[in-house]
Amino acid sequence: MLLLMYMLTMKGEHIMVNVTRDFFIALSNSEFLNKNAKKYGFNLGAEQFVGGTDTESVLNTVKELNAKGISCTVDNLGEFVNKKSESTAAKNKILQLIERISEEQVDCHLSIKLTQLGLDIDYNFCYENTEEIIKKAAEHDIFINVDIEDYARYDQTLDIVEELAKTHKNVGTVFQSYLYRAEADMDRFKDVRLRIVKGAYKESDFVAYQSDKMIDENFIHLVKKRLKGNTFTSIATHDHKLINEIKQFIKEENIDKDLFEFQMLYGFRTEMHEGLANEGYHFCTYIPFGDEWYGYFMRRLAERPQNINLVLKDKLYDENNQIKKKPLIIAGTAVAALSTAVLLCRRKK
Ligand code: FDA
Repeated sequence: MLLLMYMLTMKGEHIMVNVTRDFFIALSNSEFLNKNAKKYGFNLGAEQFVGGTDTESVLNTVKELNAKGISCTVDNLGEFVNKKSESTAAKNKILQLIERISEEQVDCHLSIKLTQLGLDIDYNFCYENTEEIIKKAAEHDIFINVDIEDYARYDQTLDIVEELAKTHKNVGTVFQSYLYRAEADMDRFKDVRLRIVKGAYKESDFVAYQSDKMIDENFIHLVKKRLKGNTFTSIATHDHKLINEIKQFIKEENIDKDLFEFQMLYGFRTEMHEGLANEGYHFCTYIPFGDEWYGYFMRRLAERPQNINLVLKDKLYDENNQIKKKPLIIAGTAVAALSTAVLLCRRKK
């Protein structure tokens, strides 16, 4: 902790925090912390990666991005819900958002998580909530992407999407290139709009590749396979090496640009969002919003612990790169929060 305190308060360009992926994944899985983190507010830095706290503020973010030629997918933050009343409240918020997107005529679709809509409570309850959202969105010609979460929920999520896709054209889902099963399962969804990602959860080697090389190779393989078909694909990565390889393939194979888009998360590599849009590619920014930011934020730190640099630099330095007035207080707050998190996680085990 002292070391962390030192790193947080020292004046310098590079603040390296040597934390591991597993550490942040463990934190992201703590339901207790997930439920309570919002009490600490956005002050620990999550606001850089969250596009608004409510429907109206996220719509303003969408309008700003649309003005730059970027389309958006919006995610009402929240997962691992285990009370029906909370799932129903989340569903109602999403239904209201669909109405507002339609009224404002913005270029925006939605990404939803089934654990928010009751997957851990009751399969049929979740199915009905999801179908209600998809039907409402269809009335307004809005697409709904069902995000894929951890492997424990994988089969049930695909089953729900597969069933709904039989009767609704405006639903799609995600495939994670770290899963051995990804290609076989993807082939079941040939006519469905899909997003390809590497995968954000910690999965065992029984089900998932562990090496970056294998995950990257499979990502390229899945994307190329989709691009040779006729159904729309979202290529979701911040990895410039993969993007360059895919761009090369698109050029060589003369792939129609209307058959795919690149996607990245709000707040990450923002210069590349505009860059790809300016090059004439369809580009879509994934914007999480709301106050249930904890699990999402921790997974982003797990993927790339250096992301903590962005947060801390913003907290400690002003726009002229001068240290802010009370860095010790901010650093103390961050350390206290992290210590609490570690202690609580240990107690949970
Ligand atoms: P990764 O984190 O593997 O980084 C690869 C390389 O890219 C780095 O070594 C570095 O060189 C460069 N790089 C990456 N980020 C950088 C940064 N911020 N600054 C500088 N360089 C950087 N997952 C899931 O399981 N289910 C889902 O439904 C989704 N949905 C989803 C939507 C969208 C739009 C995105 C972008 C991602 C998801 N994910 C997801 C998350 C996804 O599975 C994955 O965990 C993250 O995108 C991280 O992997 P990347 O491919 O972005 O690069």
